[in-house]
Amino acid sequence: MKAIQMVDLQSQYYKIKSDLDNALLNVIDSAAFINGPEVRTFQAELEQYLDVKHVIPCANGTDALQIALMALDLKEGDEVITADFTFAATVEVIHLLKLKSVLVDVDYDTFTMDTEKLKAAITPKTKAIIPVHLFGQCANMEEILKIAKEHNLYVIEDDAQAIGAEFTFSDGTVKKGGTMAILGTTSFFPSKNLGCYGDGGAIFTNDDELAFKIRGIVNHGMYERYYHDEIGVNSRLDSLQATVLRKKLPLLDSYNEARRKAADFYDEAFASNPNILTPKRAEYSSHVFHQYTLRITNGKRNELRDFLATKEIPAMIYYPVALRKQKAYFQDSDPKDFVNTDKLLDEVISLPMHTELDEEQLKYITDSVLEFFEK
Ligand SMILES: Cc1ncc(COP(=O)(O)O)c(C=O)c1O
Repeated sequence: MKAIQMVDLQSQYYKIKSDLDNALLNVIDSAAFINGPEVRTFQAELEQYLDVKHVIPCANGTDALQIALMALDLKEGDEVITADFTFAATVEVIHLLKLKSVLVDVDYDTFTMDTEKLKAAITPKTKAIIPVHLFGQCANMEEILKIAKEHNLYVIEDDAQAIGAEFTFSDGTVKKGGTMAILGTTSFFPSKNLGCYGDGGAIFTNDDELAFKIRGIVNHGMYERYYHDEIGVNSRLDSLQATVLRKKLPLLDSYNEARRKAADFYDEAFASNPNILTPKRAEYSSHVFHQYTLRITNGKRNELRDFLATKEIPAMIYYPVALRKQKAYFQDSDPKDFVNTDKLLDEVISLPMHTELDEEQLKYITDSVLEFFEK
């Protein structure tokens, strides 16, 4: 059996190697490393895939979030609500821009923002909400957009973990994650569902004015060469990364399908074990399984992780600490308001999840997990 990894980027690369290597060599030969035709073509192809008017590529998913917030002209101290249970980048950029983060609990079953708790967190100072489509599934965007409309708030979807996931609204409309709100952002970090071979990210919007503004912000606030109308950043996707992404974008749906198949295998194996809760698939969103995250309800999550390590099966705890308890963003809060997050911190464990898992590996992983509970 091939060694099991959390993410197997090498085997995925070998399947497209000759085609991709040629394309990369052509870019090097052209010397169009920055803002070359590959970047513009990728941008247009992603706009088409997502059915969104504007994709603005940038250097990484953290920049994408920061730039999206910068485009909204928020003032120091304005409040931005996001989830307590997610990767730190989402809250980090709020603080970087001297805005105030307000963290809310997540739903125990979907790991995404709890919309009742979102409502309770809104104050007159609230200006924006950043729902995170965590682990590959969209947050409850219909409800979040409704709440945002009622309170006149901006919404930025953090789609770093769910590119390709689809949300179905109650009227039957289907939209891709990242394209439902005024702004969406993503990351092309190598292990993401659509990953490049370095860093990369993008911002999505259907709003022409915001798109224009953001294209300036990513380029030093320049709208005319060497005239700087506002404070911007230097945040670019380079041509080599765009070339990788151009080769992988047509495969994204099949990559996501491969992840779903692996998730189906896991789901079936664990369905009747009383100590394991498998990830819930919400009725409103397809799941692209950026992570496959179990909840271990008998208090033995850490022992399971150690046992799997003895079997050379990697497993990760995403995430071990609530953002509100991190030194950098500490918020003195009532634990009663965060019961789900606090429970999840002790229960979650993510199993290997990528496009190259074969049945032998999946069987070995599931047998090993079940063996742990039979001990
Ligand atoms: C939910 C979420 N948001 C933002 C980011 C930041 O993306 P990047 O690592 O490309 O800066 C990540 C990446 O790990 C993420 O998982």
